Amino acid sequence: MDPTPESRRGLPEPDPAGAAHSNAVAQHVRDRIAAAGGSISFAEFMHEVLYAPSLGYYSAGASKLGAAGDFVTAPEISPLFGRIVACQAASVLEQLDGGDILEPGAGSGALAISILTKLAELDQLPERYLILEVSADLKERQETRLRREIPQFMERVSWISQLPEKFCGVVIANEVADAIPVERFRIDGGNVMQARIGIADDSIAWCFSAAPDYLEAAVRDIEADIGHQLADGYESEVSPALAGWIGDLSSSMELGLILLIDYGVTRSEYYAPDRHSGWLRCHFRHHAHNDPLILPGIQDLTAWVDFSLVAAAANNMKVAGYITQAHFLMNGGLEAELGDFPSLPLKQQIELSGQVKILTLPAEMGENFKCIGLTCGDINVPPAFETTDRAHLL
Ligand SMILES: C[S@@+](CC[C@H](N)C(=O)[O-])C[C@H]1O[C@@H](n2cnc3c(N)ncnc32)[C@H](O)[C@@H]1O
Repeated sequence: MDPTPESRRGLPEPDPAGAAHSNAVAQHVRDRIAAAGGSISFAEFMHEVLYAPSLGYYSAGASKLGAAGDFVTAPEISPLFGRIVACQAASVLEQLDGGDILEPGAGSGALAISILTKLAELDQLPERYLILEVSADLKERQETRLRREIPQFMERVSWISQLPEKFCGVVIANEVADAIPVERFRIDGGNVMQARIGIADDSIAWCFSAAPDYLEAAVRDIEADIGHQLADGYESEVSPALAGWIGDLSSSMELGLILLIDYGVTRSEYYAPDRHSGWLRCHFRHHAHNDPLILPGIQDLTAWVDFSLVAAAANNMKVAGYITQAHFLMNGGLEAELGDFPSLPLKQQIELSGQVKILTLPAEMGENFKCIGLTCGDINVPPAFETTDRAHLL
């Protein structure tokens, strides 16, 4: 492993197998840097440490989600989350008189299980439940878990390796957008510099060079949108890959809804003067920190989402709503899901209250996580978006 930097303080030590794996990933990154002539863009670095075949965080075999992993997502916390997402999907599938569900980045499969279970209760199962998973390891884990827990629905479930050309139904992506590689930049003397990853003092290290045209243009667009120039020294991220991903998703939509849930903010919040260090977030063994260069391949590396970029990248789609996760859940049927709560045994009441708190409290996931709904065609807005919409802020 590279020498232990200050940012490793307070983090648990990786176990020997994890440390050996991280060394292999670091060597892979060094090889890429050497092959590229001395440095690679941060987006390339993020792609390699997360997705390099059999090495990257999402491609290698370690547990990532849940108590034994590095972080917990809403569907892992409680099936209530997926059940409420399912109610929104049902309201669209009903209007379509059929249609499919597409879940990109299905993680452990927890969301698919709660969605399909609830849709069966509502008698609104999709014709097909398609999973688009870029990680071969996660695909295998998802398939094993779904076969074990919901064998009755497996004839509808299949894994695809690229977006369907034409899609009619509901796309559901929870915490996928934050895992798409971002570019990082710094303003230096009014110029846009690209953050790159090279080698300094024999360690993987940041370096900066003049931004390529596409990055310079993206930053100048941001400045035009927020109405002022970013200050000297300002550092942040921008995600051309996320814009491309949303563009591809929306181009394949013929009719239906895209539901995207993630931690993120509007563009003016993303590039606010006080956010001068950007929005990168790393997770290792349930510790969050912001040094993406440590623990390569064994920590999750994410960036908060600029939801204004998401809305703008969705060609030919309308924003049905943009709300906090707390409002999404409360508008979308949380109370109904807890309907027989008082008659439940005390232990179960305590468990459920704990789950609801994590999903909805502002200091937990309630405020930082947002949900955006994008519709294509003549689709009525799902119940979760009927009130408390903040789309005008995008
Ligand atoms: C943080 S996990 C979230 C998993 C799951 N959605 C959940 O909520 O528990 C990110 C997931 O996105 C997947 N992913 C990343 N980029 C993707 C892409 N371009 N298309 C589909 N899946 C992607 C990862 O492999 C992983 O399964």
